[in-house]
Amino acid sequence: MIYLDNNATSFLAPAIAERMRVLSLERIANPSSQHAAGRRARSLVEAARDRILAGLGARTAGMGADQLLFTSGGTEANNLALFGLSELRPGRILVSAIEHPSVLGAADRLRQLGRSTETIPVTREGLVDLEALRRMLTADSSSPVSVVSVMAANNETGVLQPIESVAALCQEHRVLFHCDAVQMLGKVPICFEAWKADAMTVTAHKIHGPVGIGGLILRHGIQIAPQMFGGFQQLGLRPGTEAPILCDAFAATVEEALSVGARAEKLSMLRDRLEAGIVRSIEESVVVGREAKRLPHTLSVSFPGVDRQALQVALDLKGIACSTGSACASGSSQPSHVLQAMHLPDQVVKGGIRFSVSTENTKAEIDRTIEVLVDVVASLRKQTTAKWRFGA
Ligand SMILES: Cc1ncc(COP(=O)(O)O)c(C=O)c1O
Repeated sequence: MIYLDNNATSFLAPAIAERMRVLSLERIANPSSQHAAGRRARSLVEAARDRILAGLGARTAGMGADQLLFTSGGTEANNLALFGLSELRPGRILVSAIEHPSVLGAADRLRQLGRSTETIPVTREGLVDLEALRRMLTADSSSPVSVVSVMAANNETGVLQPIESVAALCQEHRVLFHCDAVQMLGKVPICFEAWKADAMTVTAHKIHGPVGIGGLILRHGIQIAPQMFGGFQQLGLRPGTEAPILCDAFAATVEEALSVGARAEKLSMLRDRLEAGIVRSIEESVVVGREAKRLPHTLSVSFPGVDRQALQVALDLKGIACSTGSACASGSSQPSHVLQAMHLPDQVVKGGIRFSVSTENTKAEIDRTIEVLVDVVASLRKQTTAKWRFGA
């Protein structure tokens, strides 16, 4: 298999797997237990918390430390952020149109529960429209905005969002800013303090860590309402027995991910090779977000005249794994909400597919993918009766 679906999940790094194996055999107790084994488990959890905060440029020890709540992953952290931050603050909630389904779904649910939620549009390049955000922040003085959620980098197009400008606008209007940094982690350096976000979502499994652990980082002093009840763990804000081995593995994964430079170079070499090969060999292929700054490993490309699901299946049959959009939405036949929000032509939305490489990929795999794509796109285009050429 040629695996080009690392934005859906990435494979566990052997060194992390080994670390987890060794710890698993050490008979780790419940970190809340009041005995020596419990204290050892507690110290693993708390050390992991500090290591992750430090690795992501958040404040750790002493007065003014930021807070990390461990969750089961990015989806839970995004839900906790939207529900937990907005519960304590009346007012409108703004989320960008290209957020992950775990943010958009939470916003929909808040709307059903009677909260006023609005969608921030994006430009044709897939960037959050800062002017629109500014207008929305000042629009309705009788109901001010309380929470804004904008992701750091989009999971489908890889387009990097203007996070520091969003944070500055939020500060100017005294609005809380939540940032989903799931896809940014390990690809572009993250500095929570410099970003000036109030809350940030991260997860381990997109950067060769284990599935089932993520977190929400909260700026010092930011209050959040728990969304689960019945335990005192993590100050009661996210109760439930912490998972010491997963916490430790997450910390090791973040530390490994800190050496972004060399990795990003290899990722962009592979992605650019794929992109250039496709553009050179396949007529009228459209690289989505090409003009914008993007994550180094993500390629969103469309082949007008081709059905994205037929294309994904055909590639799968040839041993190439990629996806038609967000993993959480790609089980559905709905076209990508991200490409639609960018107001791309219908045929571009219909033919859009995502490749996301990892450092484990090779040049030979990329070349093989281009070769297979050329054949598959040509044969699917032959089969379709749609007039796919622009203007036709
Ligand atoms: C941008 C973004 N946010 C959140 C998530 C959800 O993370 P998890 O799979 O850890 O629940 C994903 C996963 O696809 C993602 O790409």
